[in-house]
Formats: sequence, structure tokens, C-alpha cells
Amino acid sequence: MTFTIAIDGPAAAGKGTLSRRIAEEYGFHHLDTGLTYRATAKALLDRKLPLDDEPLAAEVAGKLDLGGLDRAVLSAHEIGDAASKVAVMPSVRRALVEAQRAFSAREPGTVLDGRDIGTVVCPDAPVKLYVTASAEVRAKRRFDEVVAGGGTADFETILADIVRRDERDAGRADSPMRAADDAHLLDTSEMSIEAAFSAAKAIIDAALKQ
Ligand code: DC
Repeated sequence: MTFTIAIDGPAAAGKGTLSRRIAEEYGFHHLDTGLTYRATAKALLDRKLPLDDEPLAAEVAGKLDLGGLDRAVLSAHEIGDAASKVAVMPSVRRALVEAQRAFSAREPGTVLDGRDIGTVVCPDAPVKLYVTASAEVRAKRRFDEVVAGGGTADFETILADIVRRDERDAGRADSPMRAADDAHLLDTSEMSIEAAFSAAKAIIDAALKQ
């Protein structure tokens, strides 16, 4: 039997970094499910196809190769925004969730991060974490990342984008972003990644002993 760790939370809360650290620590396979929505959106954008044609988007989603997801290419801001739009469509979600569930069964264990892992994709996961931070802290982290990369950014614009994306992700009818009832809440607003990792590790180690 495999062991699945479900990690959810809003954009820029630190769940990606945390998920990769956890996967590395336990030797588990990691899937950033946001990349599956991003890859679907990018395939449509690249072919200049509309983002709101549900049958078309679902067809693209159904053909996605999880092995070919390139984080560097897919991390562009416009792709994230487009991903959040295709993610409201139920048939797109059905296609991607099927692939995500198949991934979650890999041995010896898996870490999946996204918005609906603990609630919809892997509701039976023995460990569920909901990683969050205030919108201001998340915007500041994004801002610092852009500046550190040599770019220029406007804090207020980033904050407005984050708030808009949260509203879309939490407000959609199908699989809205929310913490599962049995998720452990990790608020990283005033926590370093190290502290968040230690807290997560304690929860995972306790569950692995059961
Ligand atoms: O985590 P991210 O920024 O890469 O995600 C991009 C978008 O994909 C996000 O705004 C909403 C959507 N998404 C989703 O609906 N469900 C998931 N499990 C993961 C991402």
C-alpha cells in the first residue's frame, strides 16, 4: 500500500517548496497538480484557442502527459491566471483528477499539492496539510522573488492578482479551494520554510507510525 500526503493551500503560501522538501525527505514521488492546470492552459494559449471552450479544454486535459510538465516554462504569471480560468470547468477537472489519482497510487508514497487534494483528489490520504499565509505576506514573497530574479514588480498589482486568484479558486462551484475537515492547518505568515518543514515532518512521522 502506498502512503499519500495531500497538501493544499492558496497561491504563494509556500506549499510547493514544502511539498518538494517532504517528497525528498521521504523518497516519495511528487506531483504539483497546479502544473497540470497550467499545462492545459498553456496548450490552449499556444494554439491561440479560447480558454472557455469546455469540450476543447477537456480534450486537451485528457491528453496531458504528466511526465512532460516543465515547471520553469509553466511558472509564468499569465499561465497561472489562465490555469485558474480553465480550472473552473468540471470536465477539465474530471480529466486531470483522474490522472492525479493514478499518480497518487505510486509506490512507495506520493506527495500531491494543489487546491482540492485533501477534499476531492485523495480524500483518504493519511496526512493532509493546508498551508496558508496572509495575502500580504504571500504578495511580499512573490514581490521579493521577482526582484531577486532581477525583474521589476509592483507590490499592489501582485497583491491584487493574489486576491483575485484566491477569490476565483475558492469561489468556483466545482471543487473549490478549501481545507479538508481533517487537514492540519499550517499558517506560514510568520514561519520560515524550515519551521514549516519541521511542523509537517512531526505530523507525517506520527501518521507513518500508525
Ligand atoms: O498552484 P498554481 O498556482 O500552480 O495553480 C494554478 C491554478 O490551477 C490555480 O489558480 C487553480 C488551479 N488549480 C486547481 O484548481 N486545483 C488544483 N489542485 C491545483 C491548481
